[in-house]
Amino acid sequence: MTSVFHPTNDETINPSGNESIRDVMERFTGRRGFLKGTLAAGVVTGLGGFSAGAMAYPVSPAPTGGGITFTSVDANRPSNPGGFIDAITVPVGYTVKVLVAWGDAIGRPGVAANTHWNPATPMTEALQLTTFGQHNDGMHFFGFPAVGVSGLSSDRGLLCVNHEYVDPGLHVNSSTYATHPLTAAEVDAQVAAHGISVVEVRKISGAMTVVRPSPFARRITGKTPMLVTGPAAGHALMRTAADPTGTQVLGTLNNCAHGFTPWGTYLTCEENFNGYFGTTAAQLVGAPLTTLENRYGVNRGGFGYRWHEQDLRFDIRTNPNEPNRFGWVVEIDPWNPNSVPVKRTALGRFKHESAGHVIGSDNTVTVYLGDDERNDYMYKFVCANKFNPTNRAANRNLLDSGTLYVARFDANGTGIWLPLVFNQGGLTPANGFADQGEVLIKTRQAADRLGATMMDRPEWVAVHPTTREVYLALTNNNRRGTTPASSINPNGSTTAGSARPPTDATNPRQDNRYGHILRWNEDGGNVGATTFMWDIFMECGDKSTALTPASRYQGNIIGDDLGAPDGLWFDKDGRLWIQTDQQGDGTGDWANIGSNVMSVADPSTRVVKRFMTSPRNCEVTGVVNTPDGKTMFVGIQHPGEDWAPAGFTSKSTWPDSGVNGTTTQGGVVAKPRSAVVMITKDNGGVIGT
Ligand code: FEO
Ligand code: CA
Ligand code: CA
Repeated sequence: MTSVFHPTNDETINPSGNESIRDVMERFTGRRGFLKGTLAAGVVTGLGGFSAGAMAYPVSPAPTGGGITFTSVDANRPSNPGGFIDAITVPVGYTVKVLVAWGDAIGRPGVAANTHWNPATPMTEALQLTTFGQHNDGMHFFGFPAVGVSGLSSDRGLLCVNHEYVDPGLHVNSSTYATHPLTAAEVDAQVAAHGISVVEVRKISGAMTVVRPSPFARRITGKTPMLVTGPAAGHALMRTAADPTGTQVLGTLNNCAHGFTPWGTYLTCEENFNGYFGTTAAQLVGAPLTTLENRYGVNRGGFGYRWHEQDLRFDIRTNPNEPNRFGWVVEIDPWNPNSVPVKRTALGRFKHESAGHVIGSDNTVTVYLGDDERNDYMYKFVCANKFNPTNRAANRNLLDSGTLYVARFDANGTGIWLPLVFNQGGLTPANGFADQGEVLIKTRQAADRLGATMMDRPEWVAVHPTTREVYLALTNNNRRGTTPASSINPNGSTTAGSARPPTDATNPRQDNRYGHILRWNEDGGNVGATTFMWDIFMECGDKSTALTPASRYQGNIIGDDLGAPDGLWFDKDGRLWIQTDQQGDGTGDWANIGSNVMSVADPSTRVVKRFMTSPRNCEVTGVVNTPDGKTMFVGIQHPGEDWAPAGFTSKSTWPDSGVNGTTTQGGVVAKPRSAVVMITKDNGGVIGT
């Protein structure tokens, strides 16, 4: 069971009625006889996706720089002789230490270095504005320009970290929050726990340390003023009473994973923004939920935060356009602590997971973007103008103009990027799209109309450092069935609980508990291409599972099993790091696999080795190295999820229990706290070797 506040990405289901594999097969069978043979059999029986019969997918390169040579760690599971431990385990020869945790001072100028939150007391907005936010997720390390050598420093940098969500249950028992007499001050503190922390880190006496104070230290929250740019800026659907221009928004929310740009800015992705909004039953009587609200899962209760009771900005009937101002990718310049974050609407509005960029040989910039919802889509944005490697300022607004595409994966192993462009493909006024701004605000509905492929929850994207090959984590999906595409409501209104589209070639499992990893190469190696070739890299699973049919649940991992891939990242040498988001308590489907992990895969062989196991009931999310590959930062999110006073001792006391090194709090055992840890190799080597 997960916290009621932990986003579950199951608020809505894609009701688009887009083509399923059966439709594709029917359409192709007349023209391409081979589909009647190998491919069709494989797909229909669920034995795997695209296999033989068409073009061969090219071989991916093995990791360089020493390869993957560490000795795997054992799974952390209740059945181990030592029980289910509340700590991080890394391979022999490696050391892990906590760098910064929720409520630790970030080093704001003018604030005493030891002004940490005392976890035994309620968090306040004022304190949260100078301390590390809650439930950290994606992050990036920006090395300072190196002194005396070319490239970027690995000894000094800015760590930009997302804070995905807040768990009010850490102040008020989750089970009574619904009736808790909520105050405006409590809402403000929760809003301030979201967003981004920018901390300066520096190697002091051989160990990375948060610099306190630092002129770069900054909190960006759910209330920080931001600009809106791109085609949806100023749109009628973006205007509110407080902002009649539709160009100035307060804050960013549900900052899940991230991206960065080659011009040195940070991208933070707004995922389950819908959960913060709500209204009253009485208001909904007069104005029922709209098609747009339904398609994005905006509803009366949200995730139960009740913010709308204290701050009418979050009331969807008092301020019906406010939710439209969330669900975007936000660009932040971490090098200027006074810079105004910018919501780049050209990249579309959906439940953005991450933003992985790739630069083409001609300096074309493409950003890959997943929409993490069951049966939603995979996108890419191609900038209209080229990256200028010698003039940083020239790249400043690159993300404002270009073309957003959504992916259609065809059964023959190829795919097409379908452009979301006003007046093309039925994206016309007659179909509810008055202009490009409306196409972007209603990105999901536009993609429905174009016939994109419904995916098993697109999570992080990772781009190979040399080949530009793209990998996508598809974490799970329990919403597939046999509902014929033609009977799923095609107009975008919700048919929650009933629409279960069939499996397809890229999403071949009916009940995809363990998830899979997809990969593709753009045709001709051109990152702006509109066609590509795809392949299922890995079907995750448990080789020891008793689930049937075994062929579906055991997966095809060579080496250490994992499930629910979520975080996905390539290091500079081409090791594919995989972070998981399973139940976290090592029970049920996870009894063999254990707690969440970070593992590493060889893209050339599909061999997986378990690098790190995690504390009880947490999720591993966020990973980045220093440029030399010798210090790795990893996120531990929501240890002891569902913590409540009564359950405290049975869940987690990490990290303040002293395991993995005491934190800034000095070993105060009060509440489990999300944190960033750093991992180094004792001989000073590259992480993963
Ligand atoms: Fe925030 Fe899709 O994970
Ligand atoms: Ca995620
Ligand atoms: Ca997750």
